[in-house]
Amino acid sequence: MAANYNEKPLLEVEGLKQYFPVSKTFTVKAVNDVSFKVYPGETYGLVGESGSGKSTIGRSIIRLYDPTSGKVTFDGNVISGKLSKSTKDKLRVQMQMIFQDPMASLNPRKKIKDIIGEGLDIHHSYKNKQEREEKIEAILAKVGLAKEHADRYPHQFSGGQRQRVGIARALIQNPKLVIADECISALDVSIQAQVVNLMKDIQEETGTAYLFIAHDLSMVKYISDRIGVLHLGHLLETGTTEEIFSNPIHPYTKSLLSAIPVPNPEFEKNRVSVNYDYKTSGIDYDLGTEHLVDGTHYVKCTDEEFKAWT
Ligand SMILES: Nc1ncnc2c1ncn2[C@@H]1O[C@H](COP(=O)(O)OP(=O)(O)O)[C@@H](O)[C@H]1O
Ligand SMILES: [Mg+2]
Repeated sequence: MAANYNEKPLLEVEGLKQYFPVSKTFTVKAVNDVSFKVYPGETYGLVGESGSGKSTIGRSIIRLYDPTSGKVTFDGNVISGKLSKSTKDKLRVQMQMIFQDPMASLNPRKKIKDIIGEGLDIHHSYKNKQEREEKIEAILAKVGLAKEHADRYPHQFSGGQRQRVGIARALIQNPKLVIADECISALDVSIQAQVVNLMKDIQEETGTAYLFIAHDLSMVKYISDRIGVLHLGHLLETGTTEEIFSNPIHPYTKSLLSAIPVPNPEFEKNRVSVNYDYKTSGIDYDLGTEHLVDGTHYVKCTDEEFKAWT
């Protein structure tokens, strides 16, 4: 199943702000007026360097934080304001998160089957013990783990296997959206590709959408239908992977793309990296508004900048 752009967006983030007051006089504007959409079955890649606000966006969407302002709509329900019990229940099943460090997010004293089955237990999503076991076995098979793994503990697994457990735990309830926050960043490069391919296969089968958060553009390019480029809490540019890679508009996007190593020594020798320094760029992110470049490709800047850059 591919992304379906004719349907209504599954997730719509409009003008999201997440501010953290750290002292009487200083507030961290971690997320500053961010808007984007994720369609059913789509993978939306959110990229940006460390500290750009990626995790905060994910956490605000899934309501680990209460957004400072802005509106988030998920599957027809507004989920940014006060949540009714039914909306909260729906959210807890249909939106799941996979974290960077599976060792830290998996309870070390619990068996794999109970870690994976936790969501089922909370929401009573089985008729009897046997159905619970069957569901756990089926999801283990789907993520490439064996039945025997069900009775083991997290420390008995490799990093890649543990991330498969994290994926199984997120997917067992058939969520419509999975927020994957740097879920492959801690893995060896060879294992990264395996896990990303697994996520792609599962998406084909189930039609789940991913908000794929990462600082490394090469994997994002491979898995994402569309990409959003984040810097200092601002979403500077968004578009299809093709649009962003073939025609980057924002100087920050250009510098980010120029930093990706190419697996070709000739190319690599001649690679020109573009330096970008916000402080000396003359650009003020707070003044920018969304400008349509083409298709689904938008850049956030002033009218003057847009004229100069396109
Ligand atoms: N709870 C918090 N309190 C204060 N500042 C925070 C908090 N969480 C994140 N930040 C700050 O917000 C910015 C964005 O952080 P984060 O979303 O974790 O970025 P990323 O995931 O892109 O690395 C950083 O400057 C970070 O220090
Ligand atoms: Mg982060």
